[in-house]
Amino acid sequence: MEPIYEGKAKRLFTTEDPNVLRMEYKDSATAFNALKKADFENKGRLNKAITLIIYRMLEEKGVKTHLVSDVDDINLLVTRVSILPLEVIVRNVAAGSFSKRMGITEGTPFQKPIVEFSYKDDALGDPFINDDYAREMGAATQEECDVLKKMALVINDTLIEFFLKANMRLIDFKVEFGRLANDSSTIVLADEISPDTCRLWDVETGKKMDKDRFRQDMGDFMEVYEEVLARLQK
Ligand code: TMP
Ligand code: ASP
Repeated sequence: MEPIYEGKAKRLFTTEDPNVLRMEYKDSATAFNALKKADFENKGRLNKAITLIIYRMLEEKGVKTHLVSDVDDINLLVTRVSILPLEVIVRNVAAGSFSKRMGITEGTPFQKPIVEFSYKDDALGDPFINDDYAREMGAATQEECDVLKKMALVINDTLIEFFLKANMRLIDFKVEFGRLANDSSTIVLADEISPDTCRLWDVETGKKMDKDRFRQDMGDFMEVYEEVLARLQK
């Protein structure tokens, strides 16, 4: 069966239900707009399992998501949505592109979380944009931008607490949202939440437990993903 969509880390397949898709998590890792690429055994399984735990927890806290049900090691069923072409990033502590752009030392905490948008376009390198750009690019209306920011901050509060219980600091993360295919006025959380899309540091040691280990060639890449999953399962 051919996927209806193939991204860098996941593939989407139709199911018998036109409103439900099967999302398969791949073993590939990419960074720097896929300039750097490699396969890691078990990565799909680990990211699927971690995303499932997080999505179930968020649903319990009242966050609407695209999750329908678990299928197997690497597949989830999800509601069909049309993904808004925006990456919504929330930052609690300076790191990554913020530190690079602003010259602020990695690890500097913010007074309040920062929410920012990137425009999803590989050819453009997912440029940093604001609400006005989002409107003019037809990516989201002002009302939708307001909803996205609000939802992202609620998700942030919930995730900070959740990861802290597992002895991890949530430094920053990226989420994506979709409009329901059968009700475009409803926006739900879509895509994954995993160590690919979050920065997580061990509370005591500051050890990086996320994709920065791949980006920065730090080693023990899948070992830390296994550890994240084990901690969340406790
Ligand atoms: P950044 O500091 O590189 O902008 O990344 C911020 C957060 O977003 C970090 O947790 C990693 C995540 N992220 C993605 O999930 N996908 C991406 O393509 C990028 C650039 C970042
Ligand atoms: N996800 C992006 C890529 O595949 C960038 C990143 O996460 O560093 O290139």
